[in-house]
Amino acid sequence: MYKKLFIPGPVPVHPDILAAMATPMIGHRMKEYAELHGRVTSRLKQVLLTQSKVFLATSSAFGVMEGAIRNLVGKRCANFCNGAFSDKWHDVTLRCGKQADAIRFEWGRPVTPEAVEKALSTGNYDSMTLIHNETSTGVMSPLREIADVMRSFPDVMFIVDTVSSMSALKIPVDALGIDSCIFGVQKAFALPPGLTVFTASERALRRAAAMEGRGYYFDYLEFDASDAKDNTPSTPCISQIYAMDRQLERMFAEGLETRWERHRDLAGYVRGWLTSRGFELFPDAGYESLTLTCARNTRGVDLAVLKKRLAEAGFAFDDGYGKIKGQTFRIAHMGDMTKNDLDDLFSAIIAIMPELA
Ligand SMILES: Cc1ncc(COP(=O)(O)O)c(C=O)c1O
Repeated sequence: MYKKLFIPGPVPVHPDILAAMATPMIGHRMKEYAELHGRVTSRLKQVLLTQSKVFLATSSAFGVMEGAIRNLVGKRCANFCNGAFSDKWHDVTLRCGKQADAIRFEWGRPVTPEAVEKALSTGNYDSMTLIHNETSTGVMSPLREIADVMRSFPDVMFIVDTVSSMSALKIPVDALGIDSCIFGVQKAFALPPGLTVFTASERALRRAAAMEGRGYYFDYLEFDASDAKDNTPSTPCISQIYAMDRQLERMFAEGLETRWERHRDLAGYVRGWLTSRGFELFPDAGYESLTLTCARNTRGVDLAVLKKRLAEAGFAFDDGYGKIKGQTFRIAHMGDMTKNDLDDLFSAIIAIMPELA
């Protein structure tokens, strides 16, 4: 049975996108592909507000997150960790054989500019990783303030995961000085999974050129050389790129400002619905995500039962991630979602647990 997805990715995919994915196949060395690639990357530059290179990788996000480590971490990496995905990125950094330290924050807390300043002032690092929107905890770290700190460390690569935030709010990659910004498409872009977009600044490409052990599949220089021909180093997920093309058209038709405002409104709506029913929000106040809401189960709801009953009613619901599973739950409000979608979920919750009305 089809379940409407309220989990933090993948999220529901609009029928226009599914139709775009059924476009008859082309070869990636044909001029039709170069046209598609060029159109998609130039539109993505408008969304990302960047003149940096924008590359398309056929992979889930962690492929490129590992690639960024292989290409950009030389001496030592500072991995800022405030949840499951940032913890995992630290682990990936070590598994790539790189020297790295995890600078840890309690789950629910943001990464702070002060901590970034303190860590980088040691002079130990030539690279850092940051997850803008920790999907496991629903915490959005203050990217602009952290970017301000990064300006004092021009030799430190600023590698940012915007997997669950890109396109839901303004993230001006160049103005923020991000060297490599990475995101999968199954979250705020509301596409089927399988495509990851990443940027590379001039500095990043220079760093990569001097790096040994970049491997092949995620070699930034291979991507750069192929991009000059509006192409990719190996066969790309062409159907997904058609889907991205269609989604970018839809995004510009909605208007980026309107899209950002819709996400702000939806976030406020979900927070209001939950707090008015006695649920506390898990993140520190002021750092709640704009794309998903993570709440503490302060009402003592049997989340396993709720999840099961919602599934029977046709809704996919998330009962927390990693070590906070069961103590928290998460509701996604990203991509193409509207208030009506959330009202459907809320009505279903109340039908199952009338005490939450
Ligand atoms: C913030 C963040 N980073 C990375 C990932 C990993 O993405 P993928 O499973 O596409 O590799 C996720 C997945 O949920 C995520 O939310």
